[in-house]
Amino acid sequence: MVQKNKTCQWCIIENEFKPEDNYVNETLFALGNGYLGVRGNFEEGYDGPKGTGLEGTYINGFYDSEVIKYGEIAYGYAEKSQTMLNVTDGKVIKLYIEDEEFSMLSGEILAYERSLDFKEGILKRNIIWKSPKGKEVRISVERLVSFNRKHIVAIQYEVTPINFSGSIKIVSALDGEVTNLTTENDPRVGAGFKGRVLSVEDKRLANTSGALVQRTKNTRFLLACAMQHQLKADSYSIDCIEDELKVSVAFNIQAEKNKSIILDKYIAYTTSKDFKEEEVLVKAESEVSAAMLCGFEKLKEEQKEFLHEFWYRTDIQIEGDDSLQQGIRFNMFQLLQSAGRDGKTNIAAKGLTGEGYEGHYFWDTEIYILPFFLYTNPEISRKLLEYRYNILPKARDRARVMSHKKGALYAWRTIDGEECSAYYPAGTAQYHINADIAFAVKRYMEATEDRDFLINFGAEILVETARLFADLGEFIESKDNKFCINEVTGPDEYSALVNNNCYTNLLARENLSYAYEVVLWLRDNEKEYYDKLVEKLELKEEEMELWKKAASNMYIPYNEKLKIHPQDDSFLDRKPWDFANTPKENYPLLMHYHPLVIYRHQVCKQADLVLAEVLLSHKFSLEQKKMDYDFYEKLTTHDSSLSTCIFSIAACEIGYYDKAYEYFINTARMDLDNTHGNSKDGIHAANMAGTWMCLVNGFGGVKIYNDKLSIAPYIPDHWEKYSFRISYRNRLIKISVDKKGTSYKLLEGDSITILEREKEILLS
Ligand code: BGC
Repeated sequence: MVQKNKTCQWCIIENEFKPEDNYVNETLFALGNGYLGVRGNFEEGYDGPKGTGLEGTYINGFYDSEVIKYGEIAYGYAEKSQTMLNVTDGKVIKLYIEDEEFSMLSGEILAYERSLDFKEGILKRNIIWKSPKGKEVRISVERLVSFNRKHIVAIQYEVTPINFSGSIKIVSALDGEVTNLTTENDPRVGAGFKGRVLSVEDKRLANTSGALVQRTKNTRFLLACAMQHQLKADSYSIDCIEDELKVSVAFNIQAEKNKSIILDKYIAYTTSKDFKEEEVLVKAESEVSAAMLCGFEKLKEEQKEFLHEFWYRTDIQIEGDDSLQQGIRFNMFQLLQSAGRDGKTNIAAKGLTGEGYEGHYFWDTEIYILPFFLYTNPEISRKLLEYRYNILPKARDRARVMSHKKGALYAWRTIDGEECSAYYPAGTAQYHINADIAFAVKRYMEATEDRDFLINFGAEILVETARLFADLGEFIESKDNKFCINEVTGPDEYSALVNNNCYTNLLARENLSYAYEVVLWLRDNEKEYYDKLVEKLELKEEEMELWKKAASNMYIPYNEKLKIHPQDDSFLDRKPWDFANTPKENYPLLMHYHPLVIYRHQVCKQADLVLAEVLLSHKFSLEQKKMDYDFYEKLTTHDSSLSTCIFSIAACEIGYYDKAYEYFINTARMDLDNTHGNSKDGIHAANMAGTWMCLVNGFGGVKIYNDKLSIAPYIPDHWEKYSFRISYRNRLIKISVDKKGTSYKLLEGDSITILEREKEILLS
């Protein structure tokens, strides 16, 4: 297990290698840059017991798809899967000491340390290995996935003979024999493909450079992986070896005792999703040459500079709890590694660290992860929203399949925009994703006032999502002619296909009224863009009137007797789950009970109504939030990793500080401590961003309300002091909270007035 090193606040360290911890640690030591992700696998490979490891290199948004096979099909079911592919393994470096091959599982490991430093962005491994025949070598490996050069991975591999002089062979390869994981008993991992879907189309191998060109089976995307090397050694020869699916360069070195041999390996990945077919290989080769020209040391410097800027805008400090400090920085670092930032890709639920959820993007981005970027690195949040704009055509197609005459319906889970959820009750039925995206546009605008985004991208998203809700809902007579939204699933996946999910209705109301407001604003302030929008979308005034009417007559379930908001129309008609007689090992419930059994009960997988009240906090009284919290907390299993952070924020707001802290702890180290037991399949990206929200929106009490940034800080007893930074309307503000009070520092931008609780504070 990764050391809970109390002193290391900027890194994670492993001091002992244990096969049973390997699978999870491959996730924790994964590197990525939003485009490429490489699991923390060893360069030489790993041959441990079955089920204790997974080799994985991923490219965000690079997938293959297959026709989904249903036992029974119905109209409109998702047709094809999309699975992020495990691509060419470029990190392969095998080491032979005379005739003995180095492996972590043979001979003796005399010293070992693996670390990942969040300021450097370098994965390091230092080993002293004694071969079965008694030869000792020191091996030091450094690996980076470049933040500045999105196609580049680089490895520095250093070997020093300790007790001998003799022959050493280093074989560096690009291995095209890669497949995705296949599991059939965990719906969260996905079945994947049977066998290899990447065929080799072309190979290059000359001197110390090589390349493999591969093609996906069904999507027909092209992928190139190129490598180049620089070896620092006195005397050596080179062999080029070509196999059916692999190209390798072998360096045969006459090594001398105590003299280091250093191999620098540069690897570049490019695909036809970014370049024209004929350019794919050329680009990989030119990228890899440029990286080699730059050199490993310079790449390391670039990495450091990039991260310096990132932490300057992002860092959170907690004094008084080192393990939390480590957890929160680890989470922020992983989020940075996960976020696609080219407008064509997004953030997979597991980042680029594993194959859980097949590399799909969910609402996790807009409701959980986007706020983190919005208030730290707003340009990344804009790119995430541009992705949603770019898949609007697919969302329109989906809306037509679902019989909506107008508007767009975003896929519940997808890579390229098409619906990929094969289980529609917890997939397509989650129409709230439309409102979540619209809500993210609203939050983005509040925090940035980015007019250019609104007129070019945001307004269209708002119109198309609002149209969809206008078409979906109906004024129902038996509900006092209120606007009702029937047969949907809310965020809580332990209830499905319900009428009037309260969360959905509340967020749809926001969607409708904000779309109305924005279109009017365009009409009055940006006539040219307004005219273009009206023409492009054939927008009619009656439609807008309908949005307004639907929003102001939205049906919001409420139970007068209990004084709570029922999660949906039938929630209170169900029997409460028998928690007292549910054994611990039966959680998560989804792995032990048929969905129907779960749907029949009052039981929640995750925050649903409580989440709505966190997002729309100012629309509910404190008393109401408390009533709802008390009611739902008892019924929530937190089987989804998206839950505890929201309960922490809600608890903070209503003054349940001990609970808030407890939920926060559970959130902050979820992957480092593998508390959900499935970090091997990848990080829980939404939860990681949830940590940030707990601290900033929960303890920090940060909200944007009435066009002002407002803060209501609380400091948990266990801490001496904490501080965080917020990017807001071209300002960078540092907020520090200790037992005596709160202080502010305007690090960038013009002076601004903010609110601390009711009090106005001028920052200049
Ligand atoms: C949660 C969803 C979430 C998905 C991906 C599921 O377990 O219930 O809300 O979008 O995981 O993280």
